[in-house]
Amino acid sequence: MIPHYRPSFNQSEIKAVKAVIKSKHIAQGEKVLELENRLSNFVEKKYCIAVSSGTSALTLALLSLKIGSGDEVIIPSYTCSALWHAVKAVGSLPVFADIETSSFNLDPEDIKQKITSKTRAIIFPHMFGQPGRIEEVLQFKIPVIEDIAQAVGAKINNSPVGSFGDISVISFYATKVIGAGEGGCILSNSKKFTNNVLNLREYDEKDNLTLKYNAKMTDITAAIALEQLKKLSNFIDCRKTIFLRYKSILKNNVDVPLEDYSSYEANYYRCIAINPKIKLKKIFETAKNMGVKFRRPVYKPLHLYNQREHLKNSEETWEKQFSVPIYPDLSENEINIVLSTLKHIFI
Ligand SMILES: Cc1ncc(COP(=O)(O)O)c(C=O)c1O
Repeated sequence: MIPHYRPSFNQSEIKAVKAVIKSKHIAQGEKVLELENRLSNFVEKKYCIAVSSGTSALTLALLSLKIGSGDEVIIPSYTCSALWHAVKAVGSLPVFADIETSSFNLDPEDIKQKITSKTRAIIFPHMFGQPGRIEEVLQFKIPVIEDIAQAVGAKINNSPVGSFGDISVISFYATKVIGAGEGGCILSNSKKFTNNVLNLREYDEKDNLTLKYNAKMTDITAAIALEQLKKLSNFIDCRKTIFLRYKSILKNNVDVPLEDYSSYEANYYRCIAINPKIKLKKIFETAKNMGVKFRRPVYKPLHLYNQREHLKNSEETWEKQFSVPIYPDLSENEINIVLSTLKHIFI
């Protein structure tokens, strides 16, 4: 079975990990510092703090903004549940906004409707590696946490995503474009905010006994992430080449990436297709029988867990989108199998 995702490693990651192990310094150390420096250059933010996951990056970012009980944080419903967990972890209320069907990211108009006197932040993920209209959201003058867990390497008007938000977060979970097992980071231009994050990241040898976490990254993780970061532009080129081959069959049945949205350059993290004539269950079954794993790009819209509200675009999109394997480690033979599967479904 061709998996939906497989990491792309070679000798460089193995060598880097070996070197860390041989150094006998495997906890947070020099490699973490090097990763932080490289990422702050790459994302064009002054400060970068590496942490243990994308979820802890979101949680520590909210805590460092002093967001907590009685506060509201706007998030999309059509996203990874990590956003909801981070908001709940700090005792705040997640408020769902709908997506727009042009980019499948948060709809600035719906965000506007959801803002109240209690809104303290907006978490804006660029889903599936496709940038959304974050610049319009910044106009609301509410702190924006730009979540580039899925979108590292994507650009808006030639500027890297992650450089727009007041704060940005990344995830290095194994299936991400830079995959290092687990890990994340928090970026910003504010020294004060960054000091808050640093204070929360670790508990040891501190002068005060206020609540702190162990959200550190190890040098082993950082060594893998550094190697993956060096290959990022090759990874994106390779993903794009595979996408163009899929596109020759999918034609207009592609939702993401948006090829004609040229100032919004995707990183090709996901190839999201639709075929409104066939039920998703049938599509998944056909793919499975042909030896390929297709899956929903979002497990379930978050508002559907308690059904207290209706978000039309999130619901309708969830009913029809499916994600096709697209990653640099796919062999020529595997790409051909995916192409045959797509032909079977679409032609
Ligand atoms: C958009 C988005 N934000 C945050 C996260 C959380 O990252 P992590 O799995 O590293 O905690 C994810 C999921 O992996 C994600 O897709």
